[in-house]
Amino acid sequence: MMTRRIMQKKWRLGLSIALWLVSVHLICAHSEKSPTALSIKEGSDDHSKGEETLLEDEDSEDMEVFRPTDKWQILKPGQAVPAGSHVRLNLQTGQREVKMGEEESHKYWRDGNGPGMMNTHSPSFTAEELKEALKMFKEGMDDPVDTKQDGDAVRAQFRPIEELKKDMEALDMLVETDVQVMRRLLNQFNNTNSTTEERITALHDLEYLVHQVDNAQNLVSMGGMQLVINVLNSTDIRLQESAAFVLGSAVSSNPSVQVEAIEGGALQKLLTLLATQRPITVKKKALFAVASLLRHFPFAQSHFLKLGGVQVLSELFQTPGTEPLRVRIITVLYDMIIEKELISQVGMDLIPDSSHQERLRQYAEVSLLPVLVEQGWCSLVPELLASPEHDCREKALRTLLAMMAQCQTQYKQNPALTASLSELQKQYQELVLTEQDVGEQDGYFAEILELVDSMVVKM
Ligand SMILES: *[C@@H]1O[C@H](CO)[C@@H](O)[C@H](O)[C@H]1NC(C)=O
Ligand SMILES: *[C@@H]1O[C@H](CO)[C@@H](O)[C@H](O)[C@H]1NC(C)=O
Ligand SMILES: *[C@@H]1O[C@H](CO)[C@@H](O)[C@H](O)[C@H]1NC(C)=O
Repeated sequence: MMTRRIMQKKWRLGLSIALWLVSVHLICAHSEKSPTALSIKEGSDDHSKGEETLLEDEDSEDMEVFRPTDKWQILKPGQAVPAGSHVRLNLQTGQREVKMGEEESHKYWRDGNGPGMMNTHSPSFTAEELKEALKMFKEGMDDPVDTKQDGDAVRAQFRPIEELKKDMEALDMLVETDVQVMRRLLNQFNNTNSTTEERITALHDLEYLVHQVDNAQNLVSMGGMQLVINVLNSTDIRLQESAAFVLGSAVSSNPSVQVEAIEGGALQKLLTLLATQRPITVKKKALFAVASLLRHFPFAQSHFLKLGGVQVLSELFQTPGTEPLRVRIITVLYDMIIEKELISQVGMDLIPDSSHQERLRQYAEVSLLPVLVEQGWCSLVPELLASPEHDCREKALRTLLAMMAQCQTQYKQNPALTASLSELQKQYQELVLTEQDVGEQDGYFAEILELVDSMVVKM
């Protein structure tokens, strides 16, 4: 029994290595363009931040960020994978597939003790064993994850990439590491002989890689960050767009990379993209990058205020044709307001340490609300209530509430706002009834109604 269990484990490990091996082969054979198919994304605690994820929700809709579930789904070219997801190459179809990371299995990777868990001491495989596993695989074995609902098999499938790499090195296999891939992509991007197409392709592949915290830091240490920042003001709009995309992904939840981007002058260039005439696709990515750059980074937020960022966003909000960007814009502002509020609330239950004091001090310098009032946001945000979309209304309501203290007088003098609130109140009271009919007590509409009611009461 014991032996069988070990054998099973070994076989599964062999299979996952084989899977990986085949991926490597496929990549070498077919596609210089998708060198990253073999990357298994590991979760990172850094990424579990974002308490206020309004903008992230938004990103996943239009900013081509893939929303993984607990099932494998096909990843389309150009889609970004959130950190913590699992990525694999489906060998039958040649397509990349993604599913949600499991906190559980990460835990097991770290301290593989206990029944049925993975052995994290990298077991070594002989070339024979690997060949055998590969052969069985080629003979049409189905992927164990799909056929067996066995937790062990699932975990075996997701051994940390580092461990797999170690196994590969032990076999003297030539494997291109992420660092090597990035070096190659940066050379392709930086080479004056490359066509614009080739440079854009390199950026897209880089974007995929920099979701991993380490890779984003490698981008900085390899000098790639500055190259990316430099093309934000290129004359080619596709390069502007792709560069903003890489930048936004690289700085997401990655404080040290945020610092580098700010020091490299990224914010000024992104604001220029937002302030001047550009296609909406470029503006979307630039806004995504700005949001990622500002999140949890009070220094960048102060800088944003000094550079006139709020004014840039106000003008963008009011420019005809940019309606699809409006929710994203208020989400950036809302996130900043709430972040500062949360940090001061946290301060009340914590024993203050010096780093917390420092954060408080930095946030104290971000004086956003007065600037919002000055730039007319007390009357701009209510405009969004006219949107037919629940999501848009919800974000508008939250932002209106967040600005209540500063905007109350203006709200009261705004007959259009009073009218839309009572209209919304009626609508959502009815919608809540339909929700309750299907047995939902605290549904989405109830949540929105609560926001509307709260607005009405406070006005
Ligand atoms: C660009 O192409 C020319 C001619 O093909 C070649 O001599 C040169 O080394 C190339 N430059 C780079 C940086 O690869
Ligand atoms: C980009 O190319 C220039 C010269 O063409 C070189 O000096 C620079 O080091 C390269 N940068 C990177 C990050 O490869
Ligand atoms: C981009 O900006 C840099 C300095 O910020 C400037 O030196 C460069 O000429 C600009 N490039 C273009 C294409 O405008």
